[in-house]
Amino acid sequence: MSHTLLVTSSPRGTDSLSTRFATEIAEGIQTRSGGPLTVRDLTANPPPHITPAYIQGRITSPEDRTPEQVEAVKVAQDLVDELKLADVMVLGSGMINFGPPSQLKAWFDHVTWPRVTFGYGETGPKGLLTGKKVYLVTAAGGVFSEGAWAPFDFQTNYLLHLLGFIGLTDVEVVRVEGTVLGPDAAKAAVANTETAIKALLAKAA
Ligand SMILES: Cc1cc2nc3c(=O)[nH]c(=O)nc-3n(C[C@H](O)[C@H](O)[C@H](O)COP(=O)(O)O)c2cc1C
Repeated sequence: MSHTLLVTSSPRGTDSLSTRFATEIAEGIQTRSGGPLTVRDLTANPPPHITPAYIQGRITSPEDRTPEQVEAVKVAQDLVDELKLADVMVLGSGMINFGPPSQLKAWFDHVTWPRVTFGYGETGPKGLLTGKKVYLVTAAGGVFSEGAWAPFDFQTNYLLHLLGFIGLTDVEVVRVEGTVLGPDAAKAAVANTETAIKALLAKAA
């Protein structure tokens, strides 16, 4: 029995393809594992931008923190605790101006925490959140997996880097791309993703 964490971040509400497909994967895995499913909707409840209170607070011992620092660090602690509890994370991200939504950036700014989710080893930084499986669903209007626009993918590659930095290296990527390149391309993108998810869930069974 494993614990699944679904993190969604698209600001496009019920139109969001990353939310739709990440939810489908998370529910499919939860049904198979019989374990709990926790949903973290970063658009309904966006983490704040990080502040001086957070940056100072997290390097100040708990008994010396100001009330403002206590509150700011608690936001990060709650998000890290939730992530640590999960065996499987399904993360949905829809491209906004070539990168992930800012809600998701704010989430990473809280969970990327020295000595908590990454440490400094002799050979450089070392991720501490090991042993988890991640499914990353990235949606984009254009095509970024190959071709002329690939160098401008500051979403999937960036998210893979951030996940790896905190130790989440076992990542399966599902891309929904080319959705603004006309109705046929959009239909094909959805159909390809549905096929990919069927195969992925069959493997996860
Ligand atoms: C404000 C905004 C900015 C966007 N910026 C880009 C972009 O830079 N490149 C791109 O290929 N698509 C862009 N798109 C299209 C989205 O990436 C596309 O609709 C994708 O499906 C969004 O993910 P979602 O369906 O999970 O919301 C943008 C859409 C919006 C609403």
